[in-house]
Amino acid sequence: MESGDLKIAWARQYMPVLSSIRKRFVEEKPFSGMTVGMALHVEAKTAVLVETLAAGGAEVHITGCNPLSTQDDVSMALNTRDGIHSYARRGAGVEEYYAAIDRVLDARPAITIDDGMDLIFRIHTERREVLDSVIGGCEETTTGIHRLRAMARDGALRFPVVAVNDTPMKHFFDNVHGTGESSLASIMITTNVLIAGKRFVVAGYGYCGRGLAQKARSLGARVIVTEIDPRRALQAHMDGFDVMTMGEAAPLGDIFVTTTGNASIITERHFLNLKDGAILANAGHFNVEIDVEWLESHADSVVRRDGIDTYLLDRKAVHVLAEGRLVNLATPKGMGHPVEVMDLSFAVQALSAEFIAKHGRELAPGVHDVPSAIDEAVARLKLASLGLSIDRLTPEQETYMSSWTIGT
Ligand code: NAI
Repeated sequence: MESGDLKIAWARQYMPVLSSIRKRFVEEKPFSGMTVGMALHVEAKTAVLVETLAAGGAEVHITGCNPLSTQDDVSMALNTRDGIHSYARRGAGVEEYYAAIDRVLDARPAITIDDGMDLIFRIHTERREVLDSVIGGCEETTTGIHRLRAMARDGALRFPVVAVNDTPMKHFFDNVHGTGESSLASIMITTNVLIAGKRFVVAGYGYCGRGLAQKARSLGARVIVTEIDPRRALQAHMDGFDVMTMGEAAPLGDIFVTTTGNASIITERHFLNLKDGAILANAGHFNVEIDVEWLESHADSVVRRDGIDTYLLDRKAVHVLAEGRLVNLATPKGMGHPVEVMDLSFAVQALSAEFIAKHGRELAPGVHDVPSAIDEAVARLKLASLGLSIDRLTPEQETYMSSWTIGT
């Protein structure tokens, strides 16, 4: 077997939920005659989702959603399968990146699946002729949903999009556990430094930040959290973390990870106060949380290693991982979320795509929640794969829960 196929086979064995969905899709062919266009991180777990959709009768055209996260052997392996076309290449420049997005759109997808809204943005700007073929879309990540909601508010979104990110099954496992574990794994394998005993600064105490802070603490780090939301800050405090501003954290931290989905979190005024040898990484969607541009234009010198750029500022070293892009995916050995986590997120994707195929034409343009039946179905399939059973409401409990007169 080629290396891409081996990687896909490895991932597949830890994705029991997608496997069971795939079995049903083979029988029912919910995407028969449809083209699905995707812009996701092209690596082994995504390949299992792609295979699942293709098994359901879809012709799939896929490209990357980040030029550094593509695994070329997986992209090549996908191209050997019937009905699947991958245009992703690791390290693609801006022109090639957008040319690949255009090739996906040239296939006139009926369903789009995005991680960061690249396809939908392009369809609504440069490629408006594609609007005719699209029934609806699915969006994987927080940042993409924020942008889609802004588009919908402005009346600019022309078709229904399911907010796959906004489900308990995604938030609880992908953002919290997936980002937490995979960002730490990537930092450790890229730098080879010890986490125990380090001052570890997490910017943002949302789903991703919470997971990261908890897991860094469990490795022995002394964790500092920075926030702008008073409720989240208080939650971090009561969860036992030190809370302060980034200005206060800058001279204290050994390792910094941004998870805000916002811009300009670590900038000039922080860089100048960092300890010599501070390590900076970003786990938020876009590479705008650490002001790498400022470092590029103001550093006295830069040393580039695999996945680490070291900027010398007045004889102090500042190490930036993965050029400030998603640290869990964009370092040379970054593998993204653990397989089991993506099994859940991609199961929600597969069932949401099926929902669009069946009901997309009945939905109004705008951002739609994942039907809770889908979320629950994924949780039940996962529990079944683990051999775990849970209680069911008794008729008496159902009556109690739905009554307002009992208990008075
Ligand atoms: P969230 O909305 O739950 O959390 C973001 C937190 O950052 C909020 O508590 C917010 O108050 C805080 N924040 C905003 N501006 C800030 C600032 N200037 N300083 C400090 N805190 C600030 O979002 P979630 O789900 O945690 O996602 C965060 C980012 O991570 C998004 O960009 C999302 O797309 C990305 N993401 C990355 C993944 C990965 O694999 N690395 C996986 C899932 C999401």
